[in-house]
Amino acid sequence: MALSLFTKNKKAIIERAQDDYATKMRLKYKPYYHAVDSQQGTHIRLQGRDMVMLSSNDYLGLSFHPKVIEACGAGARTWGSSTTGARISNGTRAYHVDLEEKLAAFLGREACHISVAGYVSCVSAVATFAQKGDMILADKNLHSCLWDGVRLSMASLERFSHNNPEDLRQILKNIPHSQTKMLVIEGVYSMEGHICQLPELAQIGEDAGCFTVLDDAHGFGVLGRQGRGTADHFKLNDKVDILCGSMSKSLASTGGFVSGSRELIEYLRTNSKQTLFSAAISPSMAAAASASLDIMQTEPQHLERLWRNTKRYREMLKGLGLDTWGSETPAVPIVLGSKELVYRFWQALLEKGVFTVMSIAPAVPPGKDLIRTAVSALHSDEDLEKIAAAMAYAVKQM
Ligand SMILES: Cc1ncc(COP(=O)(O)O)c(C=O)c1O
Repeated sequence: MALSLFTKNKKAIIERAQDDYATKMRLKYKPYYHAVDSQQGTHIRLQGRDMVMLSSNDYLGLSFHPKVIEACGAGARTWGSSTTGARISNGTRAYHVDLEEKLAAFLGREACHISVAGYVSCVSAVATFAQKGDMILADKNLHSCLWDGVRLSMASLERFSHNNPEDLRQILKNIPHSQTKMLVIEGVYSMEGHICQLPELAQIGEDAGCFTVLDDAHGFGVLGRQGRGTADHFKLNDKVDILCGSMSKSLASTGGFVSGSRELIEYLRTNSKQTLFSAAISPSMAAAASASLDIMQTEPQHLERLWRNTKRYREMLKGLGLDTWGSETPAVPIVLGSKELVYRFWQALLEKGVFTVMSIAPAVPPGKDLIRTAVSALHSDEDLEKIAAAMAYAVKQM
């Protein structure tokens, strides 16, 4: 009797997986999880065809930089493949401390803590500092990792309209000043390519006594002096208490970081579950990020090229009458508004040898179904010409 009850409970979960509509559709149309056979810079080989990658976050194009590749190999030769341990116990190495100090200095912060993923770092940036009884004010279009941080913190939540200081101001009017509050925003919104209205948001937050967390995964490497990011772009570093981000984009590695005052980072090292119970970032990935950080400061041509390419790409899309949701950065969405249109557009680009990624509701707001594209400094003029021809073709198919 007891056994059959257990079997029944387990069956419910198995059936949930078997009946999942989103999974069924994904397996039927195969729009995601494409296994690329080989890659050289922006060029990939997929199912026997050469394609231009137009959806990676390799903004500065450093993932194939000889110094980064060399650093990866040297990292593993010097330190082995992994520390196989959490930072608090057996996993901390000199290379972690070196990279943290270098990154903190670059960002103009006292301290920094790195982890295995941007996702992990950004979850911890919210979940560690907010707690039950606090109030989080969050932009409606935040990345999933920040929502996870909000949930784990157990704080209560108020969402304000995307990048809308006035809405934040109105919401704050109804919250007592004595309430402990955290403002959570992104520097550059990954789907929309919008730059955060930091001057207004930070000021409103400051007036209301908010602790501010900024995820700059897509602003780091792209905005500010030598790519120092969104806070630096606005010269508002002092208005942000915690700056977190990813090393899997401009730093051409994997991993993430949380930076702030020494006190806050030491508090995170004591209290963040994501930090305490997860293994340290591997030697080769830390070495890649470290080499990329050096390159950002010594080879300005990558950032220059990124913006040149971005300008050219945006003009190309504008000329075709495509809706880019007002993107101001190298993360450029092509909003088509329905999943059917997105699928057709994506397939047309694929047919012409351009690889992009579809993003459909609920990953984006309803009616904003889009193709997510991103420009890299590594795109050549030839790549951009191929992309232009493919875009023109896709527009005709609509
Ligand atoms: C805004 C934002 N934060 C955090 C992350 C997570 O970074 P990672 O992919 O390095 O885990 C992403 C990834 O796309 C992101 O867009």
